[in-house]
Amino acid sequence: MKLVLLGPPGAGKGTQAKGMAKELKLAHISTGDLLRANVAGGTALGLEAKEYMNKGLLVPDSLVTKMLEERFGMPDIKTGFILDGYPRTINQAKTLDKILSAKKMALDVVFDLDSSEPVIVQRLSGRLVCRKCGALFHKTNMPPKKNMVCDNCSGELYQRDDDKEETIRKRLAVYRQEVAALLDYYKKGNILFTVSADQEAGVVLKKIIEKAGQYR
Ligand code: AP5
Repeated sequence: MKLVLLGPPGAGKGTQAKGMAKELKLAHISTGDLLRANVAGGTALGLEAKEYMNKGLLVPDSLVTKMLEERFGMPDIKTGFILDGYPRTINQAKTLDKILSAKKMALDVVFDLDSSEPVIVQRLSGRLVCRKCGALFHKTNMPPKKNMVCDNCSGELYQRDDDKEETIRKRLAVYRQEVAALLDYYKKGNILFTVSADQEAGVVLKKIIEKAGQYR
């Protein structure tokens, strides 16, 4: 199964992708996570990407595409994948089609996680991420059992640098600029499925898994 998750910042792409990866036994590829790993590792890519990420802007395609191609070179994608955070532009959608067709693959379904602005701002301003294993929590929606400690691995929880209100608004504006063309592209390809992501995480996951089941 080859799946894509689209949606605004905070719609729950990461949360759902982790649930789907576990349930459907698929590789989870998050371009945001790959970029943050480069930033944390102080690589040349990370140093360049950080400037854009902290401003809420898209990292240039030349950097992201190379990183994605490397990830697609790993063997775990052969059994299927969930792509989270890519594509974000029509250009990226076309690049993805090329990468996949060179591997004789094609997307099965693209999930559009539809979410409203007040929900997005509430989710992102309270998001907590584990520094060690990347697990996601929320100060009030999904609080960890112990303050600022990961339930899964006891790692330290932190707030992302780009989860400041001003950067959140910029990320949303960037998303809105690009999304209509992207949705149209996948609608025309007959592979777009919209899910209301303002609902409880378990309800959203159930709907996605039900739909994904058609492509097993
Ligand atoms: P990225 O990391 O992809 O960020 P994003 O798209 O802005 O999305 P988020 O990770 O903020 O949100 P999410 O939808 O995954 O929500 P989550 O599940 O965490 O990208 C970061 C940056 O990297 C970009 O701004 C850009 O600079 C760069 N970048 C990445 N990809 C790129 C690309 N392809 N091209 C160019 N640049 C790129 O949930 C949020 C919170 O809500 C959590 O606390 C969670 O616990 C909670 N929550 C989730 N679902 C629910 C629910 N249903 N109910 C209640 N709470 C919930």
